[in-house]
Amino acid sequence: MVQGLGKDYDGSEVLKDVSLSVDRGEVLGLVGPTGAGKTTLLRLINLLERPTAGSITFGGLKLTECSDAEKVAIRRRMAMVFQKPVMFSYSVYYNVSYGLKIRGIKDKCEVEAVLKEVGLGSYAHREATTLSGGEAQRVALARAIITKPELLLLDEPTANLDPKMAKIIGDLILRQADGGAAVILATHDMGLCLRLSDRTVVLVNGRLLATGRAEEVLGL
Ligand SMILES: Nc1ncnc2c1ncn2[C@@H]1O[C@H](COP(=O)(O)OP(=O)(O)OP(=O)(O)O)[C@@H](O)[C@H]1O
Ligand SMILES: [Mg+2]
Repeated sequence: MVQGLGKDYDGSEVLKDVSLSVDRGEVLGLVGPTGAGKTTLLRLINLLERPTAGSITFGGLKLTECSDAEKVAIRRRMAMVFQKPVMFSYSVYYNVSYGLKIRGIKDKCEVEAVLKEVGLGSYAHREATTLSGGEAQRVALARAIITKPELLLLDEPTANLDPKMAKIIGDLILRQADGGAAVILATHDMGLCLRLSDRTVVLVNGRLLATGRAEEVLGL
């Protein structure tokens, strides 16, 4: 779905000729050193930035050729959890239900169920901006999965979590793929990548160096 993708920032090439695809039901691990371009790649797929070269196809549609209205519709079929999640200055409940609200869905039970899944069952009425890093990350994940995205883009989703919570969140990510989502998981956590990913790609200096099973490409 990503073909020959390139991205320049101020003349410096951050992504070079990147091609990859991910199927529904599959977790694709995305690893590589800091500054390799992982976040940039996820942001391009999430239509937050325009590629300098190449194309992105989603559900048979070439995103670079879509109208703005089509792009809005497509973005609603995907969800991204950012490396540094931004919380709206309202309750946790508001933050999680926001994605449903913009899609015109009202479902209070669903919000509570998803908060329980991320281990924040009693947090609905907390002010979201006062959460710890790990709590905010889990609220961001709840906000993403509640919309049942076809494509889930995760940027270091366990970076702020202790090992026990990282395990719980890992299981939750696997359940999203089992439920039919395509998942791209950018992570520095090789153990997580090994456990969760069906295939892994290695990005170094903006180029894809290897694709394969995590054990093979990570040399584990
Ligand atoms: N908006 C921007 N303007 C200029 N340079 C940028 C911009 N966004 C990212 N970069 C640069 O692009 C490169 C890739 O950044 P990116 O955030 O994609 O890396 P990453 O692989 O996600 O790194 P990390 O593992 O640290 O999260 C970096 O050198 C970064 O400084
Ligand atoms: Mg990053």
